[in-house]
Amino acid sequence: MPSTSYLDKNYKSTHYNNVRPSYPDALIEEILKYHHGPKVRLVDVGCGTGIATVLFKDKFQEIIGVDPSESMLEAFKHEIDKSVAPNDRNKFKLIASPGEDFPEVKTNTVDMVIGAESIHWCDMEKLFGEVSRVLRDDGTFAFWFYIQPEFIDLGAKAQEIYYKYGWSDQFMGKYLTSSQREFFNNFGGSDLPKLLAKKFKDIEFHNFDPNNKSVANRSSFYMKGAMTLLEFKELVKSWSLYASWMKNNPNEPDIADTFINELKTVCSVEDEVMPLRVEWKTFHYLCRKM
Ligand SMILES: C[S@@+](CC[C@H](N)C(=O)[O-])C[C@H]1O[C@@H](n2cnc3c(N)ncnc32)[C@H](O)[C@@H]1O
Repeated sequence: MPSTSYLDKNYKSTHYNNVRPSYPDALIEEILKYHHGPKVRLVDVGCGTGIATVLFKDKFQEIIGVDPSESMLEAFKHEIDKSVAPNDRNKFKLIASPGEDFPEVKTNTVDMVIGAESIHWCDMEKLFGEVSRVLRDDGTFAFWFYIQPEFIDLGAKAQEIYYKYGWSDQFMGKYLTSSQREFFNNFGGSDLPKLLAKKFKDIEFHNFDPNNKSVANRSSFYMKGAMTLLEFKELVKSWSLYASWMKNNPNEPDIADTFINELKTVCSVEDEVMPLRVEWKTFHYLCRKM
């Protein structure tokens, strides 16, 4: 499985929780509409600080968050204590394990498994085997990704800079494996449907690409809004790739500052706190256990 700085003890999970976006109601509704049968137990693989998990709180009786990062689970526990009503807190169980192997959850006992912005850290074949093991027949597996915010007001030059710092081998992108690159450049990658089809049926794929706005391309997972470059900088600082870069280049300038300064200069943005319009490239898969 690819290595990630999310697993470091001192990874800043509270910062992650503060700056990462949540997911649209329309996406959650679509997943629930797709689902057949009882809604007793849900597992979130790679739950992190619980940004996606809590959106299902009122729909299931028991919610299990699985994540190998102690730091993320610590922030999730804190969030439960802070934001979940006392009566609902015992619905949640957190398990410190990778998505490929969480034997604490019994076979055929789960109605739905979700994975938000997480499964690219897993060995997919093992993950799909484990998800299929815990799901009951016909249980739902839904996973989704936002790929990147695209700055409508800044245009193609901003995308080039994003590519240079976020994806290319030159900077933070060097901490992505080649299969993760293929995964993100190609909405999950070309092998994913075949791999899923070994364990799952009724597979649905949906995506949204701000650069290709055909009607067919509209998706319930549509995120748009306004973001300042200052907010964007904080988002970059929540990336595992950023933490890996900073760990390996302790004497270099902060890469997030360099990235955002270049965006400001090249795209002539004078003020870091000026709201800019963004749309996010996204995709999601829905499927059922065979
Ligand atoms: C980008 S975060 C997403 C967290 C959360 N689902 C969200 O929507 O904000 C990716 C998460 O995947 C977790 N992760 C890393 N390796 C994993 C693995 N092998 N199995 C499951 N989760 C993993 C990380 O610890 C991190 O919490």
